Amino acid sequence: MCGIVGYVGDGNVYDILIKGLHRLEYRGYDSAGIALGTPSGKINIYKSQGKVSNLEDFCKDKNLEATSGIAHTRWATHGEPSDTNAHPHFSEDGNLALVHNGTIENYKVLKDALIQHGCTFHSETDTEVLVQLIEYIKLKNDCSLLDAVRMALKQVVGAYAIAVIEKNHPDKIIAARNSSPLAVGIGNNEMFLASDATPFVEYTNECVYLKDGEIAIIEKGEPLKIVNLDNRETQIDVTTLELSISQLEKGGYEHFMLKEIFEQPTTLRDCIRGRVIEGGKKIMLSGVIDGKEKFLNAKRIVIVACGTSWHAALLGKYLIQDMCKIPVEVEYASEFRYSNPILDEKDVVIAISQSGETADTLAAVKIARNMGAYVYGISNVVGSSIPRETESGTYIHVGPEIGVASTKAFTGQVMVLTLLALSIAQLKGTMTLEKISWLGEHILKIPSTVEKVLALNDKIERLSMKYTYAKNCLYLGRGFSYPVALEGALKLKEISYIHAEGYPAAEMKHGPIALIDEEMPSVIIAPKDHVYEKIVSNVQQVKARGGSIIAIVNEGDEIISKMADHVLEVPEMPECLTPIITSIPLQLLSYYIAINKGKDVDMPRNLAKSVTVE
Ligand code: AGP
Ligand code: GLU
Repeated sequence: MCGIVGYVGDGNVYDILIKGLHRLEYRGYDSAGIALGTPSGKINIYKSQGKVSNLEDFCKDKNLEATSGIAHTRWATHGEPSDTNAHPHFSEDGNLALVHNGTIENYKVLKDALIQHGCTFHSETDTEVLVQLIEYIKLKNDCSLLDAVRMALKQVVGAYAIAVIEKNHPDKIIAARNSSPLAVGIGNNEMFLASDATPFVEYTNECVYLKDGEIAIIEKGEPLKIVNLDNRETQIDVTTLELSISQLEKGGYEHFMLKEIFEQPTTLRDCIRGRVIEGGKKIMLSGVIDGKEKFLNAKRIVIVACGTSWHAALLGKYLIQDMCKIPVEVEYASEFRYSNPILDEKDVVIAISQSGETADTLAAVKIARNMGAYVYGISNVVGSSIPRETESGTYIHVGPEIGVASTKAFTGQVMVLTLLALSIAQLKGTMTLEKISWLGEHILKIPSTVEKVLALNDKIERLSMKYTYAKNCLYLGRGFSYPVALEGALKLKEISYIHAEGYPAAEMKHGPIALIDEEMPSVIIAPKDHVYEKIVSNVQQVKARGGSIIAIVNEGDEIISKMADHVLEVPEMPECLTPIITSIPLQLLSYYIAINKGKDVDMPRNLAKSVTVE
């Protein structure tokens, strides 16, 4: 996720680009930069770490004359936020400037080959490899920029939206996309390029959304031209925009939370990309390989986290113990830090934090490091405080999560924990290669399976009406579904303000079942797993006391589906992979109940997206 803006035309290029960057800042702002093509055939690049306003300050005394330009706000994936890693990136001879959204998976292989050919690099980014590759191909083949871009992109594996300008052609931008969005705005003798339409919707409502594998040639005074990687012209479909800027920022959804719920097939693909390879036969988590000896020799793994990340941590326990046979303890970071923890160099501590800034989790990391433990981070924000404090780690790559209630970050964390457990099991030999491969194949199907679950949206929206005025709600699950119950309850609590409690279903008979009556609905997560028969009796106990039940079951369920008042069916998955699938309906249920109650789901009362205080 990041923001790309481009412009060719007679307007004030700098103003249009900077204003466009501000519109896209919600997509991530580790740094911002701009490349201006001047009439004299030069390219001036200005860039700085931090928000767009920092870039504006930096540009105050610069030459901003331009006939075209490209600009970028960065959401770092390779190389922490810094002036050097900020986009745009020059090619070695300064002839080309490029901005990029996405990740070049095979950047290391390409970089090594280019270094062999004498290229030098200045940044740690995967993006710089792409601009150097394009220039290398251009010079070697003495070809046009378009041809060099086509040939370079054929060598690239990964997600990209790019824009490139060339020194001697200041009126032209070449843009291309593969799984990261790009839109072209067609104005009157001017054209715009952006990650979404918000930067240009005030200038034109004629929009062309590039499709995967397409390259746009945006040239002043020329009609828009779009070709594929084989240089064959493709059909140009113009959309007339009717959305407001605010709606466009949310991708047409009413709230960021709903947008982020529906982004999960894409974000899970981004999270898996390059980590589940050979059709699922191999799991490649570089952080685990870096810490191989520590994980192989760990006598215990302690996971510290808060809130939703703590629920993911609990699933991490179940996954790691099941697959790697290593004892795992899960601690609320806020309790851990004051509980006189006993750790040594034989311990591995995993810190999970979407923001990478949660004060309690950061404090826990520092304590663990001071006690000699090996600390591994799982975060979403590259270069944030917690990853900087850990010795190794994995980024979940789900893009900025704007909604305070965590959704795509939770499923991204659970995915990374699943891959981490499989990686360790692969190294330790605690699972057969057949079992790893079988799970790997199913992991590759998770994004499309989530798409099927999201099709329950309308049914859940209707169902939510029945529970909008509940005063309390119980979420029950066993095994892998117990942390899902906790997470579902937290979602409802934090955005609808209804009291909800997640509980191990079997624990009900030890007290909480006294709560059950017609006023106390229960959401029961009951996929076909090794405790399914057990949870059937838990459902009977609740039913017998008049409680209404929403059951999350697998498609074709014939037992619980006949007992529950409302049934939401999800596709069957291997037991250890069900949490990502069964958590999606709970995200939607809490969203619609909160909407019915008129709550501000993106910014619930009393809450912050990142709790940087104790
Ligand atoms: C979850 O929906 C909440 N936003 C909150 O519990 C959050 O998970 C918690 O504050 C931890 O945040 P972190 O993952 O950024 O550390
Ligand atoms: N992978 C590139 C980088 O880390 C682009 C990230 C983005 O999408 O902003 O610089």
